[in-house]
Amino acid sequence: MQAAQDIADGIRARFGIDPPFVGIVLGSGLGEVAEIVEDPVALPYDEIEGFPEAGVHGHAGRMILGQVAGLGVALLQGRAHYYEDGRADAMKLPVRVLAALGCRALFLTNAAGSLRPEMAPGSLMLIGDHINFTGVSPLFGETGANRFVDMVNAYDPDLRARFEATAEALSIPLWQGVYLWTSGPNFETPAEVRAARVLGADAVGMSTVPEVILARHAGLRVAALSLITNLAAGMSDTPLSHEQTLALAKPAAANLKHILADVLAGLAAEKNNRS
Ligand code: HPA
Repeated sequence: MQAAQDIADGIRARFGIDPPFVGIVLGSGLGEVAEIVEDPVALPYDEIEGFPEAGVHGHAGRMILGQVAGLGVALLQGRAHYYEDGRADAMKLPVRVLAALGCRALFLTNAAGSLRPEMAPGSLMLIGDHINFTGVSPLFGETGANRFVDMVNAYDPDLRARFEATAEALSIPLWQGVYLWTSGPNFETPAEVRAARVLGADAVGMSTVPEVILARHAGLRVAALSLITNLAAGMSDTPLSHEQTLALAKPAAANLKHILADVLAGLAAEKNNRS
């Protein structure tokens, strides 16, 4: 596997780009959020050695480089999941390439099931903390003292405040809560959902947590948003399916797109004022 820095250098040379400031990972059904990127250039994952194949329906599998309000971004449209072949570190190389490209922050998005009846499908939830229900870490096998990553404030308080303020300014309701990571690919049992609620989780999903851990290990600031596509197993009569996840993610993606674009524009304005 080529080192992340070599890959990043190759990408920057090929496209002649300045270092992007923010990396973004789009979850299931959220591909259209990529429309916020101006002057986009797309790089399919299969042209980047060691990048995941885009396996899951609803994931395009490409990196999009460009700007939002003049701020350089590198957006990953499609992610690899632990459930695909049992490797929790499936996103290790992509996250490290984003860091090596120059990104300082990583914004993650996902589709998730709600554990709170009042947080209905179509809601957006800003992740404040997480519970790792899988017992695995993407850092298994790492050496060096920095593998003992401090996970307090893993979801950056300053970035969280920006997302909250932006959503409020746009009059888009934004919940805050704890995301619980399950391995998937099967959905949870009703008993697991009850357990997750007792543990203090607000939403459940099959992604994001490994990327958060990898990003913190790489020194990136993290923000993460869940798009609620369903009430979790046993909480409603609607059968759970990936098709339902995609169908609900698409319309609600518009709100997410607006919030992301405005947070990035705010960061761009601040960066310009400083330089
Ligand atoms: N459980 C796990 N992952 C999910 C769900 C769910 O209910 N909805 C969307 N992704």
